[in-house]
Amino acid sequence: MQELRLEMVRTQLQMQGIKKPEVLEAMRRVPRHAFVPDAIKAYAYRDQAMPIGYGATISQPYIVALMTELLDLKPWHKVLEIGTGSGYQAAILAELARDVYSVEIVEELAKRARNDLEANGYGRVQVRHGDGYLGWPEAAPFHRVVITAAPPVIPQALVEQLTGGGRLVAPEGDSPQTQQLMVLDKGADGKVTRRGSIPVIFVPMVPGSAAPAP
Ligand SMILES: C[S@@+](CC[C@H](N)C(=O)[O-])C[C@H]1O[C@@H](n2cnc3c(N)ncnc32)[C@H](O)[C@@H]1O
Repeated sequence: MQELRLEMVRTQLQMQGIKKPEVLEAMRRVPRHAFVPDAIKAYAYRDQAMPIGYGATISQPYIVALMTELLDLKPWHKVLEIGTGSGYQAAILAELARDVYSVEIVEELAKRARNDLEANGYGRVQVRHGDGYLGWPEAAPFHRVVITAAPPVIPQALVEQLTGGGRLVAPEGDSPQTQQLMVLDKGADGKVTRRGSIPVIFVPMVPGSAAPAP
């Protein structure tokens, strides 16, 4: 599996423009196959998103690497992920940042990810079963927030849980045809600037208790 992982980094990430050495190294280190169900372990290093049950997916390796690169993580950062899914992105975050919090709305996925993270040496990632639209107010503020499901509009509560100087990376859009990967930077004065990166296709961020009414 390690050879497949190194090949994934060479052919899918470096050849598509992922450059940060620390991101490439994290993608070399984390055993992606350990975060997918047994039935698809053999395909874990393919250049695609894959179903992990409960309507969720583990994102394509390139997208995980791109979002991680856009986050521009520092070793002292506290990071919030919305959409734990398999726990794979959380493990990558834990390679690069000090504190990682992750929220998952499907209880079974939260449990499975917690176990897989623990079993692979990432037990310090804190996983909560809950509604990502609420963020994790008790642990806020965060230097970085990453959303790995697509809300129609990036929730204001998550922007509020960023530090001044913080960054949020997320897909945004109400249909697969219109989703864009967005990067939001919050200045020291609280002013937020937004820029689009690339078109993406994520599973929708399902409305939890805190989502605004449609
Ligand atoms: C593309 S998958 C996540 C991939 C994940 N980051 C990984 O590394 O495997 C999106 C996840 O977001 C979760 N999700 C959707 N809506 C949510 C919400 N309102 N709050 C928290 N999690 C949510 C889904 O259940 C799913 O597990």
